[in-house]
Amino acid sequence: MEQDSDKLKRAVGRAAVDGMVKSGMKLGLGTGSTAIHAVRRVGELLQNGTLCDISAFATSFQAEIECEKLRIPFYTLNSRELSSGLDLTIDGADEVDPQNRLIKGGGGAMLIEKLAAYASSAFAIVVDESKIVNNIGSGFPVPVEVIPAARVQVIRRLENIGAAVIIREAIRKAGPVITEHGNLILDIRFEYQGLQNRQDLFCKPIDPCLMEAEINQIPGVVENGFFTQKPPVIYIACSDGTIETRPAP
Ligand code: A5P
Repeated sequence: MEQDSDKLKRAVGRAAVDGMVKSGMKLGLGTGSTAIHAVRRVGELLQNGTLCDISAFATSFQAEIECEKLRIPFYTLNSRELSSGLDLTIDGADEVDPQNRLIKGGGGAMLIEKLAAYASSAFAIVVDESKIVNNIGSGFPVPVEVIPAARVQVIRRLENIGAAVIIREAIRKAGPVITEHGNLILDIRFEYQGLQNRQDLFCKPIDPCLMEAEINQIPGVVENGFFTQKPPVIYIACSDGTIETRPAP
């Protein structure tokens, strides 16, 4: 089962690179178990000479370490090489809705992933079909990166807008996840029982555009995992082995 899922991730990661990456591009390289296959494909094509002159931006330590291993040249977005922006970013997602709006940040990297996506002329997302949903924000929890000093105040504000909040816990380290920027991650859900006086909030799906903006207005929030302002092209790996492409709206 795990093997089948990795096969789909590999196929879709490769398909996006083969379909969109050209020599000379400035590339944003995403994070997660699907995007890493796109990074590996870029490395492979550089090594066999199919691609040349790629300048990459890594969205996380995971992507950076993979670039090092594969000898993909990478730079910061402040560098002379990349300060004019990126041609294309390829990344994964946790949920995708019919308008190609996303939830990202299952791997905790949404801050830099959003920076890369919004600095790119083109944006491509690679997912398997399990990530395609009708409404984002009611299934997969939406991650919110918060400075540690604002933890309690932000949790209170999020609960006031109807979210159930959990501090993301680390694995093989006691206590919370600390992001690559020294912050905490709150995982929030919008569908839960218990707020009897806030029934109005749960009658209809939330509006991800409004919610993305509203959450980011809370002091102490650094970024959240809704991606609504840069609709990407979506590459979808289907269980029958085909790859579907859904254009950016
Ligand atoms: C990383 O923070 C995320 O945004 C990932 O891109 C997203 O969680 C998808 O990851 P998988 O491809 O591992 O499911």
